[in-house]
Amino acid sequence: RWVAVLSGGLSHERDVSLRSGRRLSAALRSVGLTVEEWDADAGLLERLRTNKPDAVVVALHGGEGENGSIQSILEMFGVPYVGTDSRSCRRSWDKPTAKAELARVGLTTPDWVVLPHSTFRELGAQAVLDALVDRIGLPLILKPDQGGSALGTQVVRDAAELPAAMVGCLAYGDTVLAEQFVDGVEVAVGVLEGPAGPEALPAVEISPTTGTYDYTARYTAGLTEFHTPARLAPAVAVEVGELAVAAHRLLGLRDVSRTTAIVAPDGTVNFLQVNVSPGLTETSLLPMAIEAAGRSLGDTFATLIERAVA
Ligand code: DAL
Repeated sequence: RWVAVLSGGLSHERDVSLRSGRRLSAALRSVGLTVEEWDADAGLLERLRTNKPDAVVVALHGGEGENGSIQSILEMFGVPYVGTDSRSCRRSWDKPTAKAELARVGLTTPDWVVLPHSTFRELGAQAVLDALVDRIGLPLILKPDQGGSALGTQVVRDAAELPAAMVGCLAYGDTVLAEQFVDGVEVAVGVLEGPAGPEALPAVEISPTTGTYDYTARYTAGLTEFHTPARLAPAVAVEVGELAVAAHRLLGLRDVSRTTAIVAPDGTVNFLQVNVSPGLTETSLLPMAIEAAGRSLGDTFATLIERAVA
């Protein structure tokens, strides 16, 4: 049996994905699997046609790796793969769609507005920004509606910072998700599917020494402190786990996911986003959670591969 680990790709998170792919491949080899590392480039279709693996693990982040495109190709070729199917990838990759799904069942997520680029042309930039501040208040946070690793994400505390922040965010996509900024404890909660269904891993508390968990703070060792399990009151720790499992189930995710939440000072747990292909780099959150649960990355993914091919 041999496995292709897909990494690289064309998104802004290409470098992160290459690091995830390298680490995962080494972990899988360490538990005895035969692994090829494939860059998800233009040669992918030909490789799948001529050298079909027994299973694929998608270690791609952003764009085609998380929006369901690669998953559709794998489905077309009938290759078993670890992770969420194309349809559910499409829904959860779009942050406003995921938020709306969770809000619909009564879970808490910060208030938000979706701003397609065209809105600025149609209504005038200043009018849109004024209406946004009236509606959401300050501080607020801007995020590309589809994206990862905090690229293009900006916290805006003063209305004067909004135009530049908006332009910076629009550099990563044509639609902005503007969200009320909740100042609290940020936690990431991995979910793994076991024989009894999806189970939450210990929450990882994220505490960037620079104050902001941006791209640099994510991928530079030592710039962020992590506490696993997160230093939460026991009932809140249970609640964040339940939130992550609820997001996983509600969005139809498979095998593995990671939910990010903010615990406000009053203890309210706010859903922020869910990730269908969590980072697996040396500074990434899911491997920390897997380790904190007393498992190894290699064994965990080997089990998911076994299930995918079964
Ligand atoms: N998008 C990155 C890889 C993450 O969420 O871990």
